[in-house]
Amino acid sequence: MKTILVTGGLGFIGSNFIRLLLNDFSDYKVINLDTVTYAGNPKNLTEIETDSRYLFVHGDIGNRDLIDDLLKREKPDFIVNFAAESHVDRSITGPAAFIETNIVGTFTMLESFRAYCTAGHKCRFLQVSTDEVYGSLGTEGYFFETTPYSPNSPYAASKASADHLVRAYHHTYKLDTLITNCSNNYGPYQFPEKLIPLMISNALEGRDLPVYGDGKNIRDWLYVEDHCRALELVMRAAKTNETYNIGGHNEMENIELVKLLCRSLDRRLGPLPDGRARETLITFVGDRQGHDQRYAIDAEKIKNDLGWEPQTDLVKGMEMTIDWYLDNQEWLNQVRDGSYQKYYQEMYDKR
Ligand code: NAD
Ligand code: DAU
Repeated sequence: MKTILVTGGLGFIGSNFIRLLLNDFSDYKVINLDTVTYAGNPKNLTEIETDSRYLFVHGDIGNRDLIDDLLKREKPDFIVNFAAESHVDRSITGPAAFIETNIVGTFTMLESFRAYCTAGHKCRFLQVSTDEVYGSLGTEGYFFETTPYSPNSPYAASKASADHLVRAYHHTYKLDTLITNCSNNYGPYQFPEKLIPLMISNALEGRDLPVYGDGKNIRDWLYVEDHCRALELVMRAAKTNETYNIGGHNEMENIELVKLLCRSLDRRLGPLPDGRARETLITFVGDRQGHDQRYAIDAEKIKNDLGWEPQTDLVKGMEMTIDWYLDNQEWLNQVRDGSYQKYYQEMYDKR
């Protein structure tokens, strides 16, 4: 049995990762440390709560005493650090929480990890990072592992800072660390502040679909399960201090993606009650400040070194995602509570 300390495991990707570890592998025990922010939801893991290989710990990655105690008590073989503030728009209106969790929190985890390893324990630290650290691409080219960091939003800068700390802790203290930089994920349990679940939930209610700017920004979409499989592989099989780009080879303009979602919902549910197609809900709104134009990942290194490739194409993944949101409308209604309505008003009413 290997013990994995997952941080941020009640969020979107973390909860999918824990589900994969416990459902598809028999030799992992998982400790999930999460402070349960607006994005952390115990309902994301209801079905595995009673699994004897799973333990939830309510706490903050910035709490040094708690992390020290946890490492001493549970003796993990791996730490996978998902915990973060993850939404770019929130980092523009309120960057402080991003500095606190993404930089100071990761630093605290690293300090505790360093003390744990110095005491003679063998453990690896995988930092789950993003392609946004590389900045923005024009119409040509890709992000490689060697692309210089050039983060543009407070979110991206906070993730870049954390990556630099992880790298430095390997170089200076010879700790066993890894970094992955992944493109945009989508799939079940994604909080409806992000493009795809926001558009699905608004389209279901017949509300406006707010597309930023001219809608021509491009993202490289990856189905969340593909990302989680890559992380498990990197954690288990990568050489120390490696960094891997992870992406879906699925580039699409935002406006095309939103139209795809609308057409799929019309096919399944019929048009809106007044007979209009859902595409008519699309509303172009004021652009995101400093909006990155294009992200695109070159994922050859992880393919060549570890044999990982994405398994889910965008159309299939989108259909599975829409299925999930249609089947889980209670989950969707619960997460769009009063604080979500307030967020939505503040973020979109003045655009
Ligand atoms: P999320 O916002 O859905 O979940 C974040 C989780 O971290 C929540 O459960 C939250 O409660 C927890 N958390 C926040 N602050 C914490 C703290 N101080 N201590 C403990 N727990 C805390 O995020 P996500 O989309 O699942 O992203 C997970 C990680 O993957 C992040 O590090 C993000 O930067 C990275 N990433 C995300 C994407 C994407 O498309 N969503 C792509 C690449 C990388
Ligand atoms: O690239 C990886 C990153 O992808 C992760 O590191 C981040 O945690 C994750 O949030 C995501 O960042 P993006 O900013 O790319 O994702 P978001 O879903 O917020 O936006 C995707 C695109 O859609 C972006 O070009 C902005 C646009 N958009 C977004 C929203 C929420 C809209 O046009 N309208 C919207 O309402």
